[in-house]
Amino acid sequence: MKQVEKMKVLRNEKIARSIFEIELEGNLVQHMSGPGQFVHLKVTDGMDPTLRRPVSVCRYERKKSTFTMLYRAEGKGTQLLSRKTAEDTVDVLGPLGTGFPTDGLKPGSRCLLAGGGIGVPPLYELARQLKAGGHHVTTVLGFRSKEDVFYEEAFREFGDVYVTTEDGTHGAKGFVTDAIDRHVPVWDRYYACGPRPMLRALETKLGTGGWLSLEERMGCGIGACLACVCDEKNGPGYRKVCTDGPVFPAGEVVV
Ligand SMILES: Cc1cc2nc3c(=O)[nH]c(=O)nc-3n(C[C@H](O)[C@H](O)[C@H](O)COP(=O)(O)OP(=O)(O)OC[C@H]3O[C@@H](n4cnc5c(N)ncnc54)[C@H](O)[C@@H]3O)c2cc1C
Ligand code: FES
Repeated sequence: MKQVEKMKVLRNEKIARSIFEIELEGNLVQHMSGPGQFVHLKVTDGMDPTLRRPVSVCRYERKKSTFTMLYRAEGKGTQLLSRKTAEDTVDVLGPLGTGFPTDGLKPGSRCLLAGGGIGVPPLYELARQLKAGGHHVTTVLGFRSKEDVFYEEAFREFGDVYVTTEDGTHGAKGFVTDAIDRHVPVWDRYYACGPRPMLRALETKLGTGGWLSLEERMGCGIGACLACVCDEKNGPGYRKVCTDGPVFPAGEVVV
């Protein structure tokens, strides 16, 4: 059940170039129902910026009523968010969207997780839940450069991790698809979140049998404004990323 709540900031720290980790506390966490969901944030009490900002849930702890997000402070909204300190509040609408499914896997399945840049965060809770469910997790993370890398060690808790950077300053030089060729020849299901070109390359390489999380520009976040629609691949229809997604089976929508 989604709700709006002024949640308390517990901490808000810079962890890589322009990347911040924020932890919030409030009752809304009790309604989070799986990895890959997102929340819609209002970052000021005033009217500017008017629109909320969609940000993925990176991890949540129902017992403590806390959840964590990672965000890139780039435009006006996320820069304002980066100035919040402990005891401030953030107006949160959520949890929203349909996340990554973890059911239907045979016991001990091999799961490939591929994340690019600020698409990495929702994969963390996914990795945690897959590992807790007894599956094997291999994570491939792609960044532009060494200064952009985050959560490499955090993912090692769940299994093998391979990092690529476009300029080769950390991990292997290249893209996540290169690392998959080299290190992850077999998998039972794949999950991905990242920039569109990365998702497109993954879908072409790995085909169906995977789940892709899309980051479309959003207005309302609740299915009313149609700002976030994307085309169905095999048909004249469209899907709303905010309510039908953000996670879709590979091959269902045009990425
Ligand atoms: C489902 C979903 C999950 C996301 N998860 C994360 C996350 O975990 N961490 C993170 O850093 N970013 C995430 N994003 C992208 C994030 O919403 C945008 O980077 C952010 O809204 C930009 O706001 P701004 O104030 O910095 O930029 P501005 O340029 O001021 O934003 C202007 C408007 O464009 C929208 N917008 C701009 N860029 C994007 C984008 N790439 N995707 C969607 N809307 C955009 C904003 O919501 C806002 O309405 C996610 C987006 C979606 C749709
Ligand atoms: S953001 Fe309004 S319908 Fe999806």
